[in-house]
Amino acid sequence: MVVQLKEGVYWVGVTDWELRLFHGHELSTHRGSTYNSYLIMDKKIVLVDTVWGPFADDLIANIREVVDPAKIDIVVTNHSEPDHAGSLPAIMRHCPNAEVVVSKMGASSVPGHFHENWKFRTVKTGDRINIGSSELVFVEAPMLHWPDSMFTYVTGRNILIPNDAFGQHYATGFRFNDEVDETELWEECLKYYANILTPFSDRVAKKIDEVLALGLPVDMIAPSHGVIWRKNPLQIVHKYREWAKQIPETRAVVLFDTMWDATRRMAEAIGDGLAETGVPHKVVNLAVTDRNDVLVDVFRSRTVLVGSSTINNGPLPTIMPVMTDIKGLKFKNKIGAAFGSYGWSGEAPRQVEEMLRGAGVEIVKDAIKFKWQPKPEELDACRAFGREIGEITKKPCAV
Ligand code: FEO
Repeated sequence: MVVQLKEGVYWVGVTDWELRLFHGHELSTHRGSTYNSYLIMDKKIVLVDTVWGPFADDLIANIREVVDPAKIDIVVTNHSEPDHAGSLPAIMRHCPNAEVVVSKMGASSVPGHFHENWKFRTVKTGDRINIGSSELVFVEAPMLHWPDSMFTYVTGRNILIPNDAFGQHYATGFRFNDEVDETELWEECLKYYANILTPFSDRVAKKIDEVLALGLPVDMIAPSHGVIWRKNPLQIVHKYREWAKQIPETRAVVLFDTMWDATRRMAEAIGDGLAETGVPHKVVNLAVTDRNDVLVDVFRSRTVLVGSSTINNGPLPTIMPVMTDIKGLKFKNKIGAAFGSYGWSGEAPRQVEEMLRGAGVEIVKDAIKFKWQPKPEELDACRAFGREIGEITKKPCAV
């Protein structure tokens, strides 16, 4: 259903209620997503971003409700990833003479995806295109989250269209932030930031400063996924600034996998120790928990404890995806430690400790390990381990 944002500006995107995995199988999307495309009717007719390729017919049908797609003069491609540019070939078949506006990096990535000789126009930060009663103003936003990412601002209408930034994978029947469940919305915003934008946090903060310094009035922020920020639109900008600082909460997450419950019993005893110090925590079996949800807990927590049984002289393989992400997402200001039970060789806790260290986590206690099932006094030691780490967790984080 087409939705008018402002006079002459329409959402012509698609709601994907069924999407459960994104970026291939890399990112879970429990609440689906939307692919937002915006049509601007002025002296020139502009489409900003398209939708994922399988939904091209829906996009074209939506555009037709407002105008014949053959009349589109300009297609702004803020980012070449297929969830936004995937329907570009279908659109361009309708308006082959339209200009395709891209960032400098987009001038490489968009042809790189589609191998078409469309009429490209490359823009840089501050460039403007007059479309009649409004101008399009462009702001390059490299690594938010791809090198080609760009924001488009529509003067007069005062709408910032920042592509992936400020988005959420959140399918809803409504288009605006003031119409949806706020708890769900913020959960999805945080999951999106933690899983996609964390490694670019320094750039997020700088880019936000740069955009705010332009002094452009912002009535709406219309990202390429999820709802449009209409009520207090800058709230998401301020939240991004806060998240970009990566100041953790006084909380902990105890991640583990286990073969015969010995490491699970250690994890729970460590959790009991944390609880005794009043530190909120979760005990999470990585073998049965969604990795992207776990990463939200990691993002929020000051303390990350990881335990594994030993198999084949190392940790259980189920530990590895999250360990890879903890390193790749470049979390800051984390402390942690490792633990685990073993039967004969017992290398896993020390290896996990090294992985945490390699991911930039400050190790605050040597790894603990116990042979076979932990005895009562060994579970006491786990609780003491949890208590000690709980006390360290409560100390102010020097950020
Ligand atoms: Fe970077 Fe929504 O794609």
